[in-house]
Amino acid sequence: MPRSKIAGIGMYVPEKIITNNDLLQYMDTSDEWIQERTGIKERRFAHRTNETTTTMAVEAAKIAIERAGITPQDIDFIIFATLSPDYYFPGCGVLVQRAMQMKEIGALDVRNQCSGFVYALSVGDQFIRSGMYKNILVIGSEKHSFGLDFSTRGRNVSVIFGDGAGAVVLQPTHEENQGILSTHLHSDGEAAEILAMYNPGTHANHWGTHNYASFDDAEIGNMFMSHTMIDNAQNFPFMDGPAVFKKAVVKFPEVIIEALTTNGYKPSDLQLLIPHQANLRIAQFVQQKLGLTDEQVYNNIQHYGNTTAASVPIALCEAWEKGKIKNGDLVCLAAFGSGFTWASALLKW
Ligand code: UT7
Repeated sequence: MPRSKIAGIGMYVPEKIITNNDLLQYMDTSDEWIQERTGIKERRFAHRTNETTTTMAVEAAKIAIERAGITPQDIDFIIFATLSPDYYFPGCGVLVQRAMQMKEIGALDVRNQCSGFVYALSVGDQFIRSGMYKNILVIGSEKHSFGLDFSTRGRNVSVIFGDGAGAVVLQPTHEENQGILSTHLHSDGEAAEILAMYNPGTHANHWGTHNYASFDDAEIGNMFMSHTMIDNAQNFPFMDGPAVFKKAVVKFPEVIIEALTTNGYKPSDLQLLIPHQANLRIAQFVQQKLGLTDEQVYNNIQHYGNTTAASVPIALCEAWEKGKIKNGDLVCLAAFGSGFTWASALLKW
């Protein structure tokens, strides 16, 4: 049975840089607070109308496909991870298929927020191992800047997120010392509402959603999005940051250790850990807990903020472009986020 290897990788971030100080015109915050609590100095925001989650993905995908030495017509499956799709439906996968003039291949959207790319990679890995596909395009892309509350009310969320895309091409390999060794997926829906965007949705406040002020009761008709919801700012993501932080610092190390021990490795064997870029303090906590050196962990949240499903492929691509990953290196990808869902992938580059 073959393993999957990353045959090509690409990233795209919008040109527009938004510094912490740029946010001061919209909300009561400070460069000091943001840097101290998150490590973020700046993030990229997509062009309001000319760039979408899909167009950024296409830019990243073009690079990944070229680096894999193939053309878009060679791709036989698309897996697209995002929480900020161009449309509520259909998903972004089909928009990539159309934009890149690919064959009538399968396109699957993965909705797993911060762990979305690692989940998507795991799905792709299974299709390669089974022999079903030979060239799978796996994408993580987000345009957060379009849907955040940039008033002081939403500052605990809006200062964190940024836009961008990353993509890889998965291909089969029979090399002993290469490819994805294993992937590990987890979820715990107990606290689904503490990091969530409730609307548009069909919940009708059935779950007694935390912080949910009101609901328009009508027998029939539009309930996805109402004036009341907008007036109550229920069209924005909600996050209980400290609660997410507490769970993240437990589950990140757990899922990394799970990947390492499954394959007979220990933290010191790792050449590089690419943690989802949620918060520099979380990454530093994980580094300390696992006894890793600065050289063993790659962080770039300082420049891009948290790009959720795009953060792992962007960081992986940047680390590779900087020469921090060489053939045969042991690399671990790990992510934790809304759901909660968390995941890891261990690979030999
Ligand atoms: O990728 C998805 C997964 N997400 C995460 O992993 C996020 C995990 N959580 C976090 O990263 C952190 O909890 C945050 C960065 C979101 C927040 O940092 P914190 O140290 O947990 O701060 P906090 O939420 O406890 O808020 C502390 C104070 C509050 O004021 P009071 O009540 O102490 O007076 C907030 O109102 O900071 C205030 N605050 C802000 N002040 C300035 C919240 N946001 C801001 C802001 N600027 N942007």
